[in-house]
Amino acid sequence: MSETFFVTAALPYANGPFHIGHIMEYIQADIWVRFQRMQGHRVHFVGADDAHGAPIMLKAEAEGVSPRELVARIAAGRPRYLEGFRIGFDHWHSTDSPENVALSQDVYRRLKGAGLIYSKPIEQFYDPVKGMFLADRYIKGECPKCRAKDQYGDACEVCSSVYSPTQLIEPYSVLTGARPVLRTSDHFFFRLSDPRCVEFLHEWLGQPGHVQPQVANKAREWLSGNGDQALSDWDISRDAPYFGIPIPDAPGKYFYVWLDAPIGYLASLKSYFDSGKARAGGEPRAFEAFLTDPDTRQIHFIGKDIIYFHTLFWPAMLKFAGPPYKVPDNVHVHGFITVSGEKMSKSRGTGISPLRYLELGMNPEWLRYYIAAKLNANVEDLDFNPDDFVARVNSDLIGKYVNIASRAASFITRHFQGAIEYGPDLDALARQAQQVSEQVRASYQGREFGRAMRETMAFADRLNQEFDARKPWVLAKDPARRGQLQDSCARALYGFKVLTVLLAPVLPDVAERVARELFGLELPLRWQDALEPPRRVNPYRHLMTRVEPKQLDALLEPPAEAAAESAPAQKGPAIGQAAASAAQGGVQAPAKAVPPQAQAPPALSIDEFKKVDLRVARIAAAEQVAGADKLLKLTLDLGTETRTVFAGIKSAYEPATLVGRLTVMVANLAPRKMKFGLSEGMVLAASGEAGGPYLLSPDSGATPGMRIS
Ligand code: MSP
Ligand code: ZN
Repeated sequence: MSETFFVTAALPYANGPFHIGHIMEYIQADIWVRFQRMQGHRVHFVGADDAHGAPIMLKAEAEGVSPRELVARIAAGRPRYLEGFRIGFDHWHSTDSPENVALSQDVYRRLKGAGLIYSKPIEQFYDPVKGMFLADRYIKGECPKCRAKDQYGDACEVCSSVYSPTQLIEPYSVLTGARPVLRTSDHFFFRLSDPRCVEFLHEWLGQPGHVQPQVANKAREWLSGNGDQALSDWDISRDAPYFGIPIPDAPGKYFYVWLDAPIGYLASLKSYFDSGKARAGGEPRAFEAFLTDPDTRQIHFIGKDIIYFHTLFWPAMLKFAGPPYKVPDNVHVHGFITVSGEKMSKSRGTGISPLRYLELGMNPEWLRYYIAAKLNANVEDLDFNPDDFVARVNSDLIGKYVNIASRAASFITRHFQGAIEYGPDLDALARQAQQVSEQVRASYQGREFGRAMRETMAFADRLNQEFDARKPWVLAKDPARRGQLQDSCARALYGFKVLTVLLAPVLPDVAERVARELFGLELPLRWQDALEPPRRVNPYRHLMTRVEPKQLDALLEPPAEAAAESAPAQKGPAIGQAAASAAQGGVQAPAKAVPPQAQAPPALSIDEFKKVDLRVARIAAAEQVAGADKLLKLTLDLGTETRTVFAGIKSAYEPATLVGRLTVMVANLAPRKMKFGLSEGMVLAASGEAGGPYLLSPDSGATPGMRIS
């Protein structure tokens, strides 16, 4: 029976481009969606940018743009990644949208109507200079236990003790350095501790299949409170200034970003329905009718760090808001991707840049396969290991899968004009294929993608062994054994077609080409197409290349070390050797063996330093440079004039995301003729073992042309 799914992946914060963790999550969800569609199910797969919150507001301010401009810039960069990795969201929207305002306010009003919202005054640190309340991460001070300096407001990184920001000694605001003062204001709370909520959540978590067992255990722990610490209610409001959705009838109060973020799933779905795209895709119903249908299954893919929000708040909000809102049917949680065993930084995914992967011309389906091969249904972390990547892609995709087609098809083309005819014992192979396809189907269904890949490759091994044992290259020399030759190749191609269908959720491009070009099949491929033996094959055309280890070297190479692009490197001013290295095309890259931080710059007199004319600049335009691997062409606005600078930052920044932001430039560097034009200065960026380059930004308030001293 055909089912209907509404599928989402977590909404990425709109304060930066996608990192490899996002891409991994989307690939997981996308594979699952494609698999379900191949089963004949109807799937609506939507995403959106998570636009609200204090970090985005402050980042925009620091760059001298409005939050909406910042979000729009980030949004403009999304399609490149999504298309690049074949991630097929049906629709992409934003939490900063009219749909989300309406839905969030509606959910709030319903929760209020259900008696689950109350307000009470709370006392909190306030930055008198900035004029805003400070979240814990914007307050630092001395640890009350061990007196370590510069510790965050919630926990000490030195002695690991946990405390509240008011316990810090000598607290200061990270934003302005000012001493925060305690202030009282009214906050709104969602009564998560209400017995109705607790009871409902226990029941929801207890139903098998809603969440993985280890996730249910974790959520139950929270729900039961630990020891004397009862389950807390949820503070859902923030005071102005805040970039968010206004709370109805509460001037100056906004929803905390995590209230409106998941509602953004529904806002995106609504926008998708209202745009007519759902209808065009064969969905006749309107948004509400679709959502209210008890047969619609609502499924979320998320990472392990946001379980709390998705297994407690979100189901409770939906449940007590009532129809048309429905409680999620599944929340599928994955672990984190690490690179060579190392965690990525949360803010900027160091390790592997997905954009660089694409720019190097690496095949997106290699990564899709590699991730699929390493995923299971548990909340386990997954490591991207470069050697393993090369070995697995080459041995499985090229050695086992693609090669079998190229070898078998060429015999059929050469000796039989493309006609595939089978000998008498096809049935046993067909039964095997049927069995494998059932196994693999069950594995995909259970999100055991790694197992699905192993089962598929085990079948590929059998096909290759049989093909080799029959020695078609020997048969081809003996006209009397023509029938055997044709049968051997026919069986291999039948098997190849089966493999193609089994791999289609992971390798959509290759599968489509095989279907269309090689076998002339109708698209889209369906799961049941696997078993129908092909009767003809067209001449084989190259399907996939091997991955070269040097591509991985280039992918993992710290971008700063690749800064130089043109002929002789110009010596920058003396500061070029410090930790903040200049991201100009021609500045010398630090020697490979010595990390930049380790190089002690020579002493400098203040007069020498003053010779460097450092200015605040606004990036007025940023463009790719045809033929340049590392450079972007920047047009810098200095208030009174504009400059063109070629900067070696292409590996880390997408041009669209740079436009409008403020940075720092050396304005009196002698202009330099480069391969691509005249560079009139350089921008400053940090780089080191943790990656980079990271462009510098002045604090909020700075304007183009300001002198830096
Ligand atoms: N904006 C919130 C989610 C709101 S959902 C209503 C958020 N954004 S995020 O950009 O920080 O993360 C988006 C998703 O990426 C989350 O599911 C998160 O778990 C996932 N990942 C972030 N880093 C990751 C890895 N290193 N590996 C795998 N997934 C990771 O949280
Ligand atoms: Zn401490």
